[in-house]
Amino acid sequence: MSKLYSLLNIGKIVAGAGCIEQIKDIVEDFEAKNVVVITDQGVWQTGLIDKPKKILEAAGVNVHIINDTPPEPALEQVNAIFNAAKNFECQMIIGIGGGSSMDTAKLVSLLLTNDVTLYDLVKGKTKFKRRGVPTLMIPTTAGTGSEATPNAIVLVPEEELKVGIVSEKMVCDCVILDPEMTVGLPKHITANTGMDALCHAIECYISKKANPFSDTFALKAINLISRSIRTAYNDGKNLQAREDMLLGATFGGISIATSSTTAVHALSYPLGGKYHIPHGLSNAILLPDVMKFNLDVCEEKFKDIAVAMELDLTGCTTKQAAEKMIENLYSMIEDMNVKCDLREKGINEDVLDDLIDAAAKVTRLLDNNPKVVTKEDMRAIYKKLL
Ligand SMILES: NC(=O)c1ccc[n+]([C@@H]2O[C@H](COP(=O)([O-])OP(=O)(O)OC[C@H]3O[C@@H](n4cnc5c(N)ncnc54)[C@H](O)[C@@H]3O)[C@@H](O)[C@H]2O)c1
Ligand SMILES: [Zn+2]
Repeated sequence: MSKLYSLLNIGKIVAGAGCIEQIKDIVEDFEAKNVVVITDQGVWQTGLIDKPKKILEAAGVNVHIINDTPPEPALEQVNAIFNAAKNFECQMIIGIGGGSSMDTAKLVSLLLTNDVTLYDLVKGKTKFKRRGVPTLMIPTTAGTGSEATPNAIVLVPEEELKVGIVSEKMVCDCVILDPEMTVGLPKHITANTGMDALCHAIECYISKKANPFSDTFALKAINLISRSIRTAYNDGKNLQAREDMLLGATFGGISIATSSTTAVHALSYPLGGKYHIPHGLSNAILLPDVMKFNLDVCEEKFKDIAVAMELDLTGCTTKQAAEKMIENLYSMIEDMNVKCDLREKGINEDVLDDLIDAAAKVTRLLDNNPKVVTKEDMRAIYKKLL
């Protein structure tokens, strides 16, 4: 049988500067009178929640705010937020923030309608059977693309590993992409989360699960992100660059929804799970070296990516174009000062075996890498980062 592929997409996306105003119409469409907003302290303190809250309250909607989502939450922390949300009998869950808040919001929506535990879900013992309470996601980082994916990532502390819960039921009902919600994003978070989005697009394009849906969204995401990531970093108030980044991140998420990330994310999970390096940062530092490792089996695809990046490829062979693409990845992280001293985080030669064993367990993603990644390959890649 020829390869089959599918895409389950978001119900409605509104985009453009100022579109947060449409939150009233969206919530009214769902006839929601009680909504729970899930966000985190960082976003809360920026005051970004004030405007949507006021708009909804003026329309007679009761808005309950849960603003203590921890960064990259652990299973028990998501459970605590679920328990808090249960008290409000809401008809809609609104996630406002980065991947941490949106993943939590997606899980809470489903836990409210399914009689399952998070523990059984991460162990693969059960699945979500019913759709959740309707969801609206409003990303404030341009990064994870969680607003478009059927995934939510939780930390399982006893295993020191982050686990992805995947369910088609998790794809959101509505998304608001308002670049004004991201203008205050600090420089280093703009860089890290933007590079995460670029990883999603590049990995989905070279993944064994790549297909015409993911190719279309991934190449457009690569185009938007590579043209605007440096501007968003250097001039955070540039709304066009912020809009490009938000769209790019969502398109990256749509690519994940139909393809899959690969070795970058697999090697990144233990860096987050055990050493608490932020998701975007660990992916960003791994991306160029993992692509260098993949080069010999990806020349054609890397050339396509170089074209999408609008690099000057005059006179280049396919291989030279592919190499230029990798050089551009190195220069992107250098230009935005993306670095992480792994030794300072406690990572040295003595712990490499543990890191490699943990990464090797992420077969859900490793199996989609275009080239087999042996434990020795992983060692070489991690060692380069030390
Ligand atoms: N569901 C998915 O498909 C998917 C994909 C990739 C990653 N993830 C997960 O998402 C999480 C990471 O999400 P993230 O990278 O977006 O970071 P995040 O949500 O942890 O946010 C990072 C920091 O940025 C702050 N912040 C967010 N928006 C801001 C704004 N506009 N202004 C000022 N500060 C702001 C937050 O308060 C926080 O301190 C990880 O748990 C990761 O595993 C999920
Ligand atoms: Zn990611």
